[in-house]
Amino acid sequence: AHLQPQMDESSILRRADCRAKGGSPGFKVAILGAAGGIGQPLAMLMKMNPLVSVLHLYDVVNSPGVTADLSHMDTGAVVRGFLGQPQLESALTGMDLVIIPAGVPRKPGMTRDDLFNINAGIVKTLCEGVAKCCPNAIVNLISNPVNSTVPIAAEVFKKAGTYDPKRLLGVTTLDVVRANTFVAEVLGLDPREVNVPVVGGHSGVTILPLLSQVKPPSSFTPEETEYLTNRIQNGGTEVVEAKAGAGSATLSMAYAAVKFADACLRGLRGDAGVMECAFVASEVTELPFFATKVRLGRTGAEEVYQLGPLNEYERVGLEKAKEELAGSIQKGIAFIKK
Ligand code: NAI
Repeated sequence: AHLQPQMDESSILRRADCRAKGGSPGFKVAILGAAGGIGQPLAMLMKMNPLVSVLHLYDVVNSPGVTADLSHMDTGAVVRGFLGQPQLESALTGMDLVIIPAGVPRKPGMTRDDLFNINAGIVKTLCEGVAKCCPNAIVNLISNPVNSTVPIAAEVFKKAGTYDPKRLLGVTTLDVVRANTFVAEVLGLDPREVNVPVVGGHSGVTILPLLSQVKPPSSFTPEETEYLTNRIQNGGTEVVEAKAGAGSATLSMAYAAVKFADACLRGLRGDAGVMECAFVASEVTELPFFATKVRLGRTGAEEVYQLGPLNEYERVGLEKAKEELAGSIQKGIAFIKK
């Protein structure tokens, strides 16, 4: 019995049940693409999250190794691994939250749109699984190009008759995390004290930091505004170039993904006032999807906030962002409708 490496199903259930009695809700979370550059540190951080009772790790390679490794951590979440398409349905059944970082990342010289041909199909397959096995789960979509993969996921869910716009969220938290860091540097503040709303989408000029709405209230010279906007928009490329062919942001992305997933779980638990920026179905502009601040609650993005007052620089940026976004959204929708 000492050699039995995995817990049997009944002891797993006993642990989950015991936790429920202790008053902690304990959510079930799946990560699809869990063996990847983002997936692994994301899985580790979720294994450390006290709101998670069960953590399912799915990938087409190496998920048993990652699962065995993380299962030795003496934190509460029970980890289970799933390998390859035949195990996708078991990975998804019963999940409250599904986080999707599956797909190829950029190499130097590539735009996020260059990933479309490979990642669109991956996202389609995974979302078909979600529609079938956990249609009520909240979905956090990380796979790029987010501006197109979110519309793809929406079309897949519509086809399956399970679409609930509140539950489908494109993860743009890394843009906010970068903006907070870079703005704090310029202001000479601790980044934990800074909050920068970043709206629009998740690629190049569609990433629109609203520096006029920074908290604490701050003013920037035109040079600072230009520098910060460019650096925030190209933060991903900064990492891609530094990694020189070895991929894109993974560690800061895993941090950002957990920040966002944790907010979703606190929302599910019923906490009040949980706000994050995310790329969601939206009526804030004439486009069907747009990233703005949203309030996360028991049913997902329960409130989508307006942009608030913009200055002239931001109004010009907004027009550029919308132009590019419109094409990316259309490309995603057409991929499923074709
Ligand atoms: P990676 O290549 O290191 O990992 C991707 C993982 O997905 C691999 O383990 C691979 O086996 C797995 N995978 C491939 N096809 C799959 C399928 N059909 N089902 C399940 N898993 C599958 O890439 P990395 O660096 O982890 O990036 C993942 C994605 O996240 C990329 O598309 C990247 O562009 C995107 N990304 C998004 C960001 C955002 O802010 N939303 C920031 C950084 C990256």
